[in-house]
Amino acid sequence: MNPLNHVAIIMDGNGRWGLKFKNSRNAGHREGLNTVEKIIKSSIKQKIKHLTLYAFSTENWKRPKKEIKYLFNLLENFLINKIEDLHRKNIKLKVIGVKNFSPKLNNLLKKSERKTEKNNILQINLALNYGSKNELINAFKSLQKKRISINEKNLSKHLLTKNIPDPDILIRTGNTKRLSNFLLWQLAYTEIFFEKKLWPDFNEKDYIKIIKKFKNIKRNFGKI
Ligand code: FPP
Repeated sequence: MNPLNHVAIIMDGNGRWGLKFKNSRNAGHREGLNTVEKIIKSSIKQKIKHLTLYAFSTENWKRPKKEIKYLFNLLENFLINKIEDLHRKNIKLKVIGVKNFSPKLNNLLKKSERKTEKNNILQINLALNYGSKNELINAFKSLQKKRISINEKNLSKHLLTKNIPDPDILIRTGNTKRLSNFLLWQLAYTEIFFEKKLWPDFNEKDYIKIIKKFKNIKRNFGKI
């Protein structure tokens, strides 16, 4: 059985869910946050050490201002209301991405990271304003500037995911089969699961089904 250390998720389908059931894309994001909480709880039960959530990509800035504002408000309220609880549960929060949001959100994110940095039951890597191509370009530039030789080990150490093991599983909900500029380097040997359900409909049972499937896959890593 394969050990499972790290699950990464592209939480797709909030907008469609919101339009379908509440006539509002933002209602889908609100509902999506409930799924986030369920999956965090289940990850702890499953003894998963890293959960990486794609919450906002560098391309998501192209969305309507109203939707962007709603998403960041949701995140702000989540941090204000839940960070104590996450801390009590021994969860570490780490942002991967460039923190160039409002001063209030930047501060909240930094404070939350600092508060939980020593926790070790589960690390939540929140991909926020994250884009993989940009991350790779910056890593190469940094190696070049420091005159460090370019190899796999050195490059990995200059990515935003430094010290985070590569994902074992990637789940993308929402019935779409693409990577959307997410962890392109880190997913080289990851088992990928495309899920038809929209993110707000995804539940613990679906999650466990994927985990069970993963545990029984023969992972070769290029060998036979
Ligand atoms: C993609 O669905 C989802 C997002 C861009 C945002 C994800 C945010 C959440 C799950 C809630 C907030 C999370 C935290 C951690 C506070 P989409 O809007 O692209 O859906 P669509 O493909 O149906 O349009």
